[in-house]
Amino acid sequence: MVLPEEVAARILAEAVRRRGSLRDAAALYFQRHPEHEYMKPLVRVLTLGVARHYILLDRALELLGYGPPSHSTSWMLTRVAAFEAMFGRLKPSRARALSEKTGVRLEDLEKLREMRPRDVAKGLSGLDRLSVLYSFPRWMLEELLQAGVPELPRLLEALNRDPQRWIRIRPGVDVERLRESLRGQGVEIEPDRDLPDVARIVEGADRATRTREYREGLYVLQDKASALVAHVAEPQGRLVVDPTAGAAIKASHAAWLGSRYSVAGDLKPQRIGEAVKTLERLRLRHHADIYVGDARRLPLRGFDVAIIDPPCTDIGRLQYEPEIKLWLTRGHAKYFRRLQLQMLLEAVDAALPGARIVYSVCTLTHSETIWVTRRLLEKRPEAELVEQKPRIGERPRRLPQAQRMLPHLHGTQGFYIAVFEKR
Ligand SMILES: C[S@@+](CC[C@H](N)C(=O)[O-])C[C@H]1O[C@@H](n2cnc3c(N)ncnc32)[C@H](O)[C@@H]1O
Repeated sequence: MVLPEEVAARILAEAVRRRGSLRDAAALYFQRHPEHEYMKPLVRVLTLGVARHYILLDRALELLGYGPPSHSTSWMLTRVAAFEAMFGRLKPSRARALSEKTGVRLEDLEKLREMRPRDVAKGLSGLDRLSVLYSFPRWMLEELLQAGVPELPRLLEALNRDPQRWIRIRPGVDVERLRESLRGQGVEIEPDRDLPDVARIVEGADRATRTREYREGLYVLQDKASALVAHVAEPQGRLVVDPTAGAAIKASHAAWLGSRYSVAGDLKPQRIGEAVKTLERLRLRHHADIYVGDARRLPLRGFDVAIIDPPCTDIGRLQYEPEIKLWLTRGHAKYFRRLQLQMLLEAVDAALPGARIVYSVCTLTHSETIWVTRRLLEKRPEAELVEQKPRIGERPRRLPQAQRMLPHLHGTQGFYIAVFEKR
C-alpha cells in the first residue's frame, strides 16, 4: 500500500527536479493516480511542511547520525517522517511503517518528537542559526540582511506561514452589498483601511473564485501589496505600457483606475492567454492591445506610464510557494537583476519625458531591489526616483522614496516598489 508520506516525497522530489511548483507536481501526480485523490489534503500539508522546514529537518536527522541530505525521493521521505515526528503529526501506527521504509529507527523518531527547533540549532550563531531555525539558505539571508529588511527573524517566521489573502474590487461596486452577498456564499471579507478598492479575506479564501460575483468580474484575487502598484503608477487618463503583463492583473487594475488605454505584453504565449481571460472576465478586452514579445525591446515608444513587474526570485511569495527555497541559488538572483535592469533601461529610453516608470517585484533580495534601482539611477540620470502615493510600506534605509511591504508588518506578501519619473 502507498502511504501519503510516499506520495508527498515523490511530489517534493519531482518539484525540485523540474525546478517547478509543488502545485504543478501534485497536479501531475494526481492526474496519473486518481485513486490517490483522497490523500490530497494531507499530502498538501506534508509537502508544504517539508519545504518550509527542510534545513531544520536535515540537521535534526544529521544530529541523530542520518544523512547526507539530498533531494532524492528516499531522502524526501525521511524528511517527511521527521517533519511528522517533530511537528506532532506522526501517529504510532504510521511511525512503524515509516521506520521500515526510511531506515530511521523507531527510537530516533521518538527523539525527533521531543526535539525543539532551538535544540537543533544549539551551538550555532548568527546567520547559521537563523538558517537552521527558519530553513533559509544562507545566501538568501545574506541578501535580506544586505537589503536592511527590518526584524529579520520575524520576517522569516512570517514567510514560513500561510498567506493572508486579499481581493481587489471593481470601482462603483457597493462594497457592503458585496460583503453581504459573499457572506451568504461562505466568504467573509473586511474592507482595507489603506486602499479603498481592496479587502482582506477573513474566511473562505478557497471559495473566493467560486462565487457569482467573481464570475461576473466584480473582483479579482490580488495581494494588497501588488494592488498598490497600479495606484502608485497614477494611470488616470494616461497610456500605460505593461510589457511583463502575465495574467494582466496590474494592467486591468490600471484600467479600473481610469487609464486611457493599455498595451500589455508577455514573452510567453500561455501568459497572454491568461491575460485575455482576465480582461474578458473583467469586461476590459476593448481596453488593451495584447502582444507576445520581449520586454527588453518594446514595440512602442512615447507612452506616459510603464509598469515593469518583471520575473524575480519570488522570495516575497514564499508563503505560497516555499519549495523554491530548495533549489533557488544566488545565480538566479544575479540573472534576474540583470534582466530587470535591462527592462527598466528600455522603458526609460522609450518613455515620454514626464512619464512614470514603476518597478515592482515580489521579492526582497538586495540584488534585485536596491541594486537594480541604484544601477538604473546611475545609468540613466534622466530617471529620478520619486515619492509614492499612497505610502503604506516601510522605507528602505538608503532609498527612502521606495517602499517595501512585508508579511510580518503589513500582512501582505513581501514586495518592493520604486517609481521613477523621466525628466
Ligand atoms: C511577475 S510576472 C508578471 C505578473 C503581472 N504583472 C500581473 O500582475 O499579472 C512576470 C512575467 O514576466 C514574463 N516574462 C519573463 N521574461 C520576459 C521577457 N523577457 N519579456 C517579457 N515578459 C517576460 C513572465 O512570463 C511573467 O508572466
